[in-house]
Amino acid sequence: MIQKKKQVLIIGGQGSGSVLGDTIVDANKRGDMEYEFVGFINDRDQQAHIGDKPVLGGLDDVPKFVKQGYHFVYSIYKFDDQPNRIRLFESLNIPHDQLVTFVHPTAYIAPNVELAHGVFIMANVSITSNTKLGLNCIIRPGTTIGHDNVIEDHVSITAGASVGSCIHIKRGASVGLKACIREYLSIGENSMLAMGAVLTKNLPANELWAGNPARLLRQAKWLS
Ligand SMILES: CC(C)(COP(=O)(O)OP(=O)(O)OC[C@H]1O[C@@H](n2cnc3c(N)ncnc32)[C@H](O)[C@@H]1OP(=O)(O)O)[C@@H](O)C(=O)NCCC(=O)NCCS
Repeated sequence: MIQKKKQVLIIGGQGSGSVLGDTIVDANKRGDMEYEFVGFINDRDQQAHIGDKPVLGGLDDVPKFVKQGYHFVYSIYKFDDQPNRIRLFESLNIPHDQLVTFVHPTAYIAPNVELAHGVFIMANVSITSNTKLGLNCIIRPGTTIGHDNVIEDHVSITAGASVGSCIHIKRGASVGLKACIREYLSIGENSMLAMGAVLTKNLPANELWAGNPARLLRQAKWLS
């Protein structure tokens, strides 16, 4: 019997959203048929199509699409405004079992890694034993994540980052391109580690750290 693919709407647009959609299309070509990317939810850009996919509605239409059984990727990406990004997600009231939980076929995920609903793992990612990822975490291509990490809800880890082991990354934190995190450290809620940073100390909440070794660059913008 042919199983129907779960129909996916991406909440977002060109950039982060289209990259996530293309990743689902690539997985289909490699034989992973769980999801089918069918369109966008976007009321910001006033476009009928983004790339070759239709924009099927705006944020107000989400409840209707939930009732129709669609699955959703929440791709709205704000490096420096995580609290608002999370509030917007929560206001949509999407049942968690209608969030796309996706692992690209080229990723290695150890068998005892725990993935919450809405986790999206892109190409060539590696995650080793006992690591836990919370709701809606996005792990971008080429990132390596070690063992026994706790990565809370709404964390974004960007391409090529190296996360050591026994690390705690708290809710809403962002890790930039090619950043590197030493073992046993923590990153506070809604904090940001800049691209290329080498983190050797605990990073408190709501701060942006950069450099090698990483140091405070500034407070998060939503505090000012
Ligand atoms: C840190 C970052 C957020 C910029 O923050 P910002 O407040 O706009 O900082 P500015 O660009 O005004 O730079 C302020 C200073 O920090 C320096 N700086 C910026 N980014 C830096 C980085 N990653 N590492 C070290 N120094 C950095 C700048 O050179 C500048 O130095 P100066 O004051 O001596 O001239 C940005 O550089 C960054 O790392 N973004 C993440 C990129 C990423 O991972 N994108 C993912 C795409 S999917």
